[in-house]
Amino acid sequence: MGSGHIEQFEKLLATNPAASGREAKLLLTRVANETQDRRVSASIASTDFFVRVMRANARIRGSAHNALRMSCIWECGKFFEMHGLHGPAIEIAGQLEALARRSNDTAWLRKSFTFAGIIYAEFGNVVEALIRHAKSFDLAAAEGRSVQITVLSNTAVALNYAGLHHEAIQVCQRAVEISRGETDRSAYEIAGTAFCNMALGYLYLEQFSPGLEAIRECLARTAEPQEGRSALSRTIREWTFVQLALELGLIDEARAHSTACERYGRWGDNPRANGLVAIARGLCQVYAGDVTDGLETLESALAKASEGGVHHSSLHEDARRALVKAYEVVGRPQSALDHLTALINEIRIRRERTLASVLDWRRAVELAADIDSRPLEFREAKLRARVAEIQLINSRLEMFERLAITADLKEESSGQHGYRVGKLAALVAGELGWKREASDALEVAARLHDIGKIGVPDRILLTSKELKDAERHLMSSHTLIGAELLAKSDVPQLKMAEDIARFHHEWWNGTGYPAKLAGKRIPIHARIVALADVFDALTHGRPYAPAWPIERALDEIQTRRGTQFDPELTDRFIELVRRLQKEHADLDEYLGRAGRNSPFAQARNRIRLMLEEGRDRVEKQANPASQTVH
Ligand SMILES: [Fe+2]
Ligand SMILES: [Fe+2]
Repeated sequence: MGSGHIEQFEKLLATNPAASGREAKLLLTRVANETQDRRVSASIASTDFFVRVMRANARIRGSAHNALRMSCIWECGKFFEMHGLHGPAIEIAGQLEALARRSNDTAWLRKSFTFAGIIYAEFGNVVEALIRHAKSFDLAAAEGRSVQITVLSNTAVALNYAGLHHEAIQVCQRAVEISRGETDRSAYEIAGTAFCNMALGYLYLEQFSPGLEAIRECLARTAEPQEGRSALSRTIREWTFVQLALELGLIDEARAHSTACERYGRWGDNPRANGLVAIARGLCQVYAGDVTDGLETLESALAKASEGGVHHSSLHEDARRALVKAYEVVGRPQSALDHLTALINEIRIRRERTLASVLDWRRAVELAADIDSRPLEFREAKLRARVAEIQLINSRLEMFERLAITADLKEESSGQHGYRVGKLAALVAGELGWKREASDALEVAARLHDIGKIGVPDRILLTSKELKDAERHLMSSHTLIGAELLAKSDVPQLKMAEDIARFHHEWWNGTGYPAKLAGKRIPIHARIVALADVFDALTHGRPYAPAWPIERALDEIQTRRGTQFDPELTDRFIELVRRLQKEHADLDEYLGRAGRNSPFAQARNRIRLMLEEGRDRVEKQANPASQTVH
C-alpha cells in the first residue's frame, strides 16, 4: 500500500507548519481516513506508516484542526496498543493530552488519561497507571455512568497488577453500585467487567468463594458474543471461572465452563484464546486426576505460546503459572520450582525489554523536541540545551521513582518504603558530615534500591511452604535485576543508585548477596541503605512477618552489628534513630513526608475519597432523614 497522503502532508508541513487553510484540512482528512482504514486491517508491518502519521501530527504548530488531529492519532494509538508498541502508545497519550488541553475538550482529555493508564498498566508501571486513572475518574462524571464504570474497571485492573487486591475489589464494588441506578442495559453489561476484575482480586487473595460468586455474576451479565473481540473477552471470563471453581473442588462445574471456554475460544482463531482454552482443559484434567494427559496439555500449551514470540508473552506467562500450579497439585515440587524459576526469568527479560524501549523512546522524543525548540541565538541555545538536559534527567528519575514504588508495592502496600529508606539514609549521611548535595543525591538514589522487584512475578497462589520459600529466595535476584536496569539508563546520576540496588543486601562479614563483598569493599552508600532498609522492613512488617516496635527493631539491629552491618555505622544509626524519636512524635510521618506528597499518594487518596463519597451516598439513600439534619 502506498503512503501518498502522508507524503503529501509531510511536504505541506515543510512550507505550512501550522497546517492552516483548507488544503491542509483536506489532506489531513485523507490521512485520518487512511489511518482508520489501515488500523482495522493492519499488521505490524504497517508500523512505519503509523509512526509517520504520529510524527507529522506532532510537528504541527498551533491549534488548527485539533479535533481532526485527535481522532487521527487516536487510531494510531489503538494500532500501537494492539501490537504491544508501548513507547509510541505512550507518546500518543501525551499528544492527545496536549491537544485536548489546548482545545479545552474534557472528553478527549479523559480519553487520553484512560489510554495512558491502560498502557502503563500493561507494561507493569502501575503507579503511572493509577495516577492517570485517578485523573480520568475526576473527568468521567461529566460523561455519564457507563464511562465512570469503565474507568473504575480499568483502575481495578491496575490495582490488581499492583497487588492491591482489596482496593481493586472495593473499586469494582463502587462500579457495580453506580450501575445499579442505571436503567440502561449497556451500563448493566459494562459492570460485568467490574465483576470479572473483582473475581480476579478475590482469586489472588485466595478468597475463592466470593471470587466464584463474582465471576458467576459477571457471566450472568455477559451477552452472547457477536464478534471476535467479545468472544475473546468471554473466553477470558470462562477461564477465570475455571480457575476459581477448581480451587473450590467444583470439578464438574469447572469442566462445564472449560467446555464453554472452548466453544467461545474457537471464534476467529485467536492464539490467546486458543491458549487459554488449552490451559483451562489441562488444569481440569490435572485436578480430576488425569495427570499425564493434563500435564501434556499444559506443556504443549506452553510450547505453542512460545512460538508466538513477544506478542503472546502474557499467554506464555499464563501457561507457566498453570504448570507451576499443576506440578504443585500433583506433588512434584521440583518441576514446579523449575517452571517458577523460568517464569521469573521470562518476566524479568520481558519487563526489562519493555522498559528499555519505553525509556529509549521517551529520550528520543524529548531530544527531538529539544532540537525543534532550540533558538538560533548561540548562548541562549546552549542554556536551553542545559535546561532541557536537566528536565530530561528529572523526568527519567521520576519515571524510575514511580517504577520503584510499583516494585515496593509487592511487599508493602503503602508504596512509601523507598521514600522512608531514602530519607533515613540521607539523615545518616548528614550525621557522617556529608555535604548537603551528596546526602540529597543519596536520598533520591536510595529510593530506588528495590526497583528490581519489578522483575519478580506477582503472586502465584502457591500453597506449599517449600515453594513459597523458593519464591522468596528467587526474590533475592532483585539486586541484580535492579542494578542492570539502572545501568542501562545511562543517566550518570543513577550510578550511585545502581551500586545501592546491587549491594544493599551484602553483609559486613561477607555472607550477603549477590557478590559476597565484605567490610569496606561494600560501597558506603550501600552500607548505609542496608541499615535503613532493614530498620524500615522490621518496623513495618512484610506479608510474611508482623511489624515490630522501634525499640525491638533497634535491639535486633544491635545484635547484627559487625555481622550484617558495619559496626561504626550501626552505632551512629542507633544514636540517630533514638534522637529522631525524641524530636518527632510520629517518626513514620516525618520520614515518609516526601512519599505522601508524591503524585502516586495523591492518586491513591483520590481513589480512597471516591470510595468514601460513594459510601456516604449509599448511607444517605438508606437513611434519607440524615440529609435534613445537616
Ligand atoms: Fe532489597
Ligand atoms: Fe527494601
